[in-house]
Amino acid sequence: MAVLPEGDPAPRDGKLPNKGELTKKPFSLYVHVPYCAKRCGYCDFNTYTPSELDREDQISSWLDSAMKETVLAKKVLEDELTIDTIFFGGGTPSLLDGQIVQEFLNNLQRHFHLKDNLEITLEANPDTITKEKSDLWIKSGINRISIGMQSSAKNVLQILDRTHNPENVMNSVSILKEAGFTNFSLDLIYGTPGETLQEWKKTLEDAILINPPHISAYSLVIEPGTKMGSELNRGEIQPVNDDDAADKYQLAEKIFNDNDFSWYEISNWSKPGKECQHNLNYWLGNNWWGIGPGAHSHINGVRWWNHKLPKIWRENLELNQSPALAREVLTEKQIGDERVMLLSRLKNGIKESDFEEKKIDNLIKQNLVLVDSGKIILTVEGRLLADVVFRQLTD
Ligand SMILES: C[S@@+](CC[C@H](N)C(=O)[O-])C[C@H]1O[C@@H](n2cnc3c(N)ncnc32)[C@H](O)[C@@H]1O
Ligand code: SF4
Repeated sequence: MAVLPEGDPAPRDGKLPNKGELTKKPFSLYVHVPYCAKRCGYCDFNTYTPSELDREDQISSWLDSAMKETVLAKKVLEDELTIDTIFFGGGTPSLLDGQIVQEFLNNLQRHFHLKDNLEITLEANPDTITKEKSDLWIKSGINRISIGMQSSAKNVLQILDRTHNPENVMNSVSILKEAGFTNFSLDLIYGTPGETLQEWKKTLEDAILINPPHISAYSLVIEPGTKMGSELNRGEIQPVNDDDAADKYQLAEKIFNDNDFSWYEISNWSKPGKECQHNLNYWLGNNWWGIGPGAHSHINGVRWWNHKLPKIWRENLELNQSPALAREVLTEKQIGDERVMLLSRLKNGIKESDFEEKKIDNLIKQNLVLVDSGKIILTVEGRLLADVVFRQLTD
């Protein structure tokens, strides 16, 4: 699993060194649901299958601890905060019973105000979406579902160790629409070893046929320590080829543009007005609290992350202690660099006047950025080499 930075010790009461003015920025809630039926071969997210957990840490124990962390968040933040967006991420949040989601959201409203018509997203695996759950999700206020489609090629889904079939995606979208959902997103992955350009093209076309308001397309990262990472080490699969990944990204950009989707972040495209507000809050450097094992939080330059193991997360909360493992107070330089890294990923770009002319000219010469209305914006080539752009802007 991904290694966390070391950080400073986090206090047991979760108190922040300096909260700053909380109401000046939008405040979001991320809710981590760390359970999956089966681990996909490429995934190093903080998630657990039933056999990896003790009886008292199975999914049925999640609600109680998650509600305790909500109380802690309210105690630490004190202010009468209004939540701008909520995102249930995973793991597989769609494994939660509808009543559990409902109870969590009801309880949340005893401690925080929710903005009118706020975006509430829930990540779902296609083979876990049922009519019963969808009805309860919509009733409890969930209004956006992010569906892990990944690919429409059966062989690619098999290589990724996904549990669903291509047909599950269309079926789940029908179920969601029937329940009343109009806002949903499809997550796609390109660059799986063995995936042909033709298979990726078919995936893109199938995604377009479903006509979602939003699509994310991620380049597969094969992380060390995962099943696919070991297969790579043993030479059983080939690493993702950069040129192949670039061709696939450019094909996605073309097909999305031809179908009224516009990029707004390197890996995200949407129909007008359907950008994910929650993720925009991260990229705009706003504040958020992450509830759940391993969840990260950020409040005005203080960043902390929870213990990853559900058991330790639960035990801390049972003792009325913060489940935070460590934290870091960002320096002005870190805050500035992070701002550049996050804002430069967005189509809205970053202010030209914040940088030396020479740096910008160099990037323009390399065809990595263009300047429009005083903003530096990545070109398609720049989106493929965003790290290079970021390094040149901040060195
Ligand atoms: C962590 S998952 C959670 C949602 C849900 N369980 C699913 O798989 O769709 C969120 C997204 O991250 C993607 N993801 C996870 N690991 C990845 C990796 N190593 N490379 C690219 N995308 C990855 C998943 O495929 C999924 O679309
Ligand atoms: S279902 Fe999602 S969270 Fe679970 S292992 Fe697969 S990619 Fe990771």
